[in-house]
Amino acid sequence: VLRECDEAGLDLMAFKVSSEAYLDEYEEKLRAFGLEVTAVAAGEQPGVGRRISFVAPTGHRFDLYVEMELSDNGPMTNNPDVCQQDQRGMKAIRFDHCLLYGGDVDGIKKVFEEILGFSTSEVVVDDDTGMIIALFLTCSNKAHDLAIVRHEEDGKLHHVSFLVEDWTSLRDAADIMTRYDISRDIGPTRHGITRGQTIYFFDPSGNRNEVFAGGYSFYPDNPLRVWKASSVGKAIFYYERELNDRFMTVVT
Ligand SMILES: [Fe+2]
Repeated sequence: VLRECDEAGLDLMAFKVSSEAYLDEYEEKLRAFGLEVTAVAAGEQPGVGRRISFVAPTGHRFDLYVEMELSDNGPMTNNPDVCQQDQRGMKAIRFDHCLLYGGDVDGIKKVFEEILGFSTSEVVVDDDTGMIIALFLTCSNKAHDLAIVRHEEDGKLHHVSFLVEDWTSLRDAADIMTRYDISRDIGPTRHGITRGQTIYFFDPSGNRNEVFAGGYSFYPDNPLRVWKASSVGKAIFYYERELNDRFMTVVT
């Protein structure tokens, strides 16, 4: 959901919960953890049932909900075609994940692992102290559903990511970015972390977006993958093997 605003950034990220009973249980556990939880009535957003809303230790707002109406244009369920309409643009299949920047990485790890049942798939740690600098969390078979980077300022957005089908789709997305002079951060390239293929670009609001394809399948018994900060270049941009200043410093 996009809304007009004076500055770029992210209002909230929401996750679907499988039952009302879980929603009640999470509300209780989030409160017991010491987080403020507010209720959002059904219908506050069109087609969305009641939500609970909390601010994570990194200052980001997350909402949890059970009910979400399907959109008018899909998905097809009866003899489903690959696409319902002729496809246009970068052909995003769905929203995939966010990378958020904030201070209390250990706090948000605790909330998402211990209360909401996420798993950590990968971390980037300080070579000497082992302090977590970046955290990759999953609640699915995806390599990540949410990523957090330690940052002095809370509540910041690094990027929102949209899934495309494959490496060829990324090439097509890159062609569109150049054709329309869309501001590109980096890519097409590949991540070491998640092993996904990627392009980062900026939308006209100033928020960074990503088109993302591939990545490994995560299972809950997978061992934690650990990257040392001294190898962070390869972890983030596997081919370039180094970060760029823009990627490190521009958050909204
Ligand atoms: Fe991403």
